[in-house]
Amino acid sequence: MNIPIARPFFGLEEEEAVLAVIRSGWVSQGPKVREFEEVFASAVGARHAVAMTSCTTALHAALAVSGIGPGDDVIVPSLSFIATANAVVHAAARPVFADVDPETCNLTVETIERAMTPKTRAAICVHQMGLPADLDPIMEFCGSRGLLLIEDAACAIGSEYKGRRIGGHGNVACFSFHPRKVITTGEGGMITTDDGGLAEKLRRFRHHGMSVSDLERHLATTVVLESYPEIGYNYRMTDIQAAIGIVQMRKLPVIVGRRRVLAERYTRALSNVGGIRMCRIPEYVFHNFQSYWIELVGASRGERDRIMQALLDRGITTRRGIMAIHHEERYRDSGAILPVTDRLTDNSILLPIFPAMTELEQGWVIAGVMEAAA
Ligand SMILES: Cc1ncc(COP(=O)(O)O)c(C=O)c1O
Repeated sequence: MNIPIARPFFGLEEEEAVLAVIRSGWVSQGPKVREFEEVFASAVGARHAVAMTSCTTALHAALAVSGIGPGDDVIVPSLSFIATANAVVHAAARPVFADVDPETCNLTVETIERAMTPKTRAAICVHQMGLPADLDPIMEFCGSRGLLLIEDAACAIGSEYKGRRIGGHGNVACFSFHPRKVITTGEGGMITTDDGGLAEKLRRFRHHGMSVSDLERHLATTVVLESYPEIGYNYRMTDIQAAIGIVQMRKLPVIVGRRRVLAERYTRALSNVGGIRMCRIPEYVFHNFQSYWIELVGASRGERDRIMQALLDRGITTRRGIMAIHHEERYRDSGAILPVTDRLTDNSILLPIFPAMTELEQGWVIAGVMEAAA
């Protein structure tokens, strides 16, 4: 057996969609990008969606156009992929690391409050592994302190908080379409917001700060001369990516449904195994299971690594749970003391989960985990 940690769920429809774009001759920031944005906004219940090249650039753009910059502190969980903090640095602000709830791996009002500084202007709340954070109290807290709240929803497309999809709660939310995510366009990202003014700023920011979009210029019947009143970036998505994204969005219910079936089977098989713990799934969330995470309770980092190696020897690819950004070289001087993060980054792993995973493959993983962790 050779079982990867993830595998995109592609078929003929994606191939045909790509071919159609190539044949159309319009391959970047064109009609397919616009269509993908419309499909995405309506799927999550947001007024606007703005396509980007990745979640990292989406986070950077969201911070920058919101006026977060030099001298500002932005609270982020350390228990996240490094891009969450790097985006703050790209915006020339300072990430301040907060700890997480051990049961959900997510920020809480308490952990955010502990990380507050006099310069805190914003917080980035990650829906880790697709499991939604408890948004209502966090939104209330940020609102009462005048903090901008950005949702890092890299992993969270299709997940719901209190019956509403992530991206539809009125905050700025940033998604990823990297191949490890629930839907993929190869690389890519999306920002959702209800604020039309912000969406316009984001569209200019991703397009070199240009006053007019390619689409508008192309459709104009009189000559349009553009200007560049702001400094922007090239964060444009291609129509090839967008065409794949539109097909992937149609498949979202099937993809999430399959992930949930696999996750349920893991949980049934492993929840009574001594020394293994899963995330608690609060009753108010619908979880897309972008990742399947287990804590090897009481295990040292060395023991965890030994188990990962034993699984790899059986042809099973795993990943360490989630990194702790504040231990990486560029962030080591943060001074953050985060005991939950320290524990979870050392003793947890992610198991393979992807829609095409067979029962046989999953059975092999379950048997391997039981044996290795015994
Ligand atoms: C929580 C989180 N934020 C941001 C990112 C960055 O996403 P991208 O690769 O699309 O830039 C990732 C990707 O792994 C992630 O898991």
